[in-house]
Amino acid sequence: MRILNFGSLNLDFVYQVAHFVRPGETLSSEELSTFPGGKGLNQSVALSRAGAEVFHAGCVGEDGGLLLDTLREAGVSCRYVRQLAGARTGHAVIQVDQSGQNCILLFGGANQMVGEEMIEAVLKDFAPGDWLLLQNEISALPALLRRAGEKGLRVAFNPSPITPELPHFPLENVEFFLLNEVEGAALGGGGTPEETLNGLRARFPRAKIVLTLGGDGAVCWDGAQLWRQGIFPVEAVDTTAAGDTFTGYFLTAVGEGLDAGTALRRANAAAAIAVSRKGAAPSIPEKAEVEAFLSARGC
Ligand code: RIB
Repeated sequence: MRILNFGSLNLDFVYQVAHFVRPGETLSSEELSTFPGGKGLNQSVALSRAGAEVFHAGCVGEDGGLLLDTLREAGVSCRYVRQLAGARTGHAVIQVDQSGQNCILLFGGANQMVGEEMIEAVLKDFAPGDWLLLQNEISALPALLRRAGEKGLRVAFNPSPITPELPHFPLENVEFFLLNEVEGAALGGGGTPEETLNGLRARFPRAKIVLTLGGDGAVCWDGAQLWRQGIFPVEAVDTTAAGDTFTGYFLTAVGEGLDAGTALRRANAAAAIAVSRKGAAPSIPEKAEVEAFLSARGC
C-alpha cells in the first residue's frame, strides 16, 4: 500500500500528574518527558510499522530534527516534509494521570504554515488511486480536501481534533472516516453510537465509517455490512496515540485488501499495545509484535 499522509508533526511535552490541573490550581508534575508526536507523525509511524509504504508531508521548524529522525527511523519518506527557517515546530503539552488518561494542549507552530503552493507541489507526484490520509492539525485542509477530490485520490480522514469549522469542510470525497464518538457526534449527530453511525451514513452515503467506542471497541460500516470488534484489555499506562496507532494499522490492513473485521482486530490489538507503553510515537508497536499479541490470544 502506497500512502501520502499530509499531517502534523509535534514535540510532545508529557507531564505525569496525580490528576489533571484544575482551574486556579498550581500543581507540581512528577515527571517530564519529551516524545515525538503529532497525530500526523504518529499515524505515519503506525502505517509504516504496519507495513505500508508511507510518504509524510508537513512542516517543522528549525527545532524539528527529532521528528524527522523519528520518521526516517520508522521507514517513512520525509521527501515532502519542509523544515522552515525561522519557524517553530508545533508542540503539545500533555498531562497524563495515574490511570493513563491524557489531556492535550496544542501549539500549531509550523503545522499551521501549510498553504496552497505546498499542496500543489506535493500532490503533483500522486495519481488517481493513491491513498491520502488527513487529520485536523494542519492549515489549508479545505483546499487539500478539494484538490484530492479533483485528482481522484482515495481520501481517509481522521477528523481530530474537532473544530467549529470542520463540519463545514468539503468532505464529500472522503472514502473512509475514522473517528471517535465525540468526533462522530459532531459530524453525524446523535446520542447513542447507533444514532451517530446512522447520522454519518445518511450524511456521507458513499463513505465507509470506522467509529471507535472507547472501552466498547470499534465498529465499521464498510458500505455493505457492519463489523464489530471489542477491545483487548490491558493495563493502561498512557493512552496517547492509541487512536493514531489504530488508524495506521486499520488503513494498512484495508489497503492490503483484508476485510474490515480483520482490520479492526489488528488495529485494536496494536492500540492495546500502545496504551500499555509511555509516549506517542515510541509506543507504537511493530507488526510482528501485533501478530504475536494476537496469536497469544488465539486470534
Ligand atoms: O493523538 C495524540 C497526539 O495528539 C499527540 O502526539 C499530540 O502531539 C497531539 O497531536
